Amino acid sequence: MSSNYTLHNLDCTEFLATLGDNEIDVVVTDPPYGINENNKKVLSRSNLAVAIDYGDFAWDKKRIDTALIREIQRVSKEQVIWGGNFYTDCLPPSSSWAVWDKVNGANDFADCELAWTSHKKAVRKFTYMWNGMIKQKPEKRFHPTQKPLDLMVWVLETYTKPNDLILDPFMGSGTTGVACLMTGRRFIGCEIEPNYFKIAQDRIELESRRPSLFEVEVEQLPLVEQVEYYVGTNTA
Ligand SMILES: C[S@@+](CC[C@H](N)C(=O)[O-])C[C@H]1O[C@@H](n2cnc3c(N)ncnc32)[C@H](O)[C@@H]1O
Repeated sequence: MSSNYTLHNLDCTEFLATLGDNEIDVVVTDPPYGINENNKKVLSRSNLAVAIDYGDFAWDKKRIDTALIREIQRVSKEQVIWGGNFYTDCLPPSSSWAVWDKVNGANDFADCELAWTSHKKAVRKFTYMWNGMIKQKPEKRFHPTQKPLDLMVWVLETYTKPNDLILDPFMGSGTTGVACLMTGRRFIGCEIEPNYFKIAQDRIELESRRPSLFEVEVEQLPLVEQVEYYVGTNTA
């Protein structure tokens, strides 16, 4: 890879076939769950605020094939698969599920989401409020099943190492890619749907142009920015 990321607008099946065994350090992904999540269901659940109309989610009508899960396992050393609870018939038992507690309160949305991981760790939990339009931090919504950026940063820091090569074959709006650039991981992403691909491309490119605070010599910053930097660090 010439830069630290590469993006492909295609069916990931084609791309996976080009990879050798274990070429990727970790696949971190959020494939379709096949639960036929559709816009009518989402709109009817959102009684706290006006929900965004994303149109029909044709891609969530069926699960990905078992053969595609096998390909993901072939090309990578480790895997983190959101919605793994919908694929337990084709994934081995794991001691290392990741749990995202969405702090939902009482409504029809799920309290938690689960990721199956191939790691040999204990179950780990990340708590981050994401309840329809109510979120722990403001974050622009580009995709109907978008994951929070903070969640994906936590996943990368918990299950991958700096400079690892990460693949997300179902990148949607590119949240995994943005989190990779924020945490110093190399990224390859695939997305079949051109509109989501363009969104992912724009988000990841924008993040790639953002100077990392860790790369800037603190002495080079004007005095006011230095003060803000230290205040931000102390209160984080
Ligand atoms: C659950 S969404 C991922 C959302 C993502 N986590 C985010 O934060 O935006 C799954 C995505 O996989 C894409 N997809 C479905 N089948 C695909 C395939 N065979 N190859 C590549 N992308 C695919 C869909 O278009 C959809 O955007």
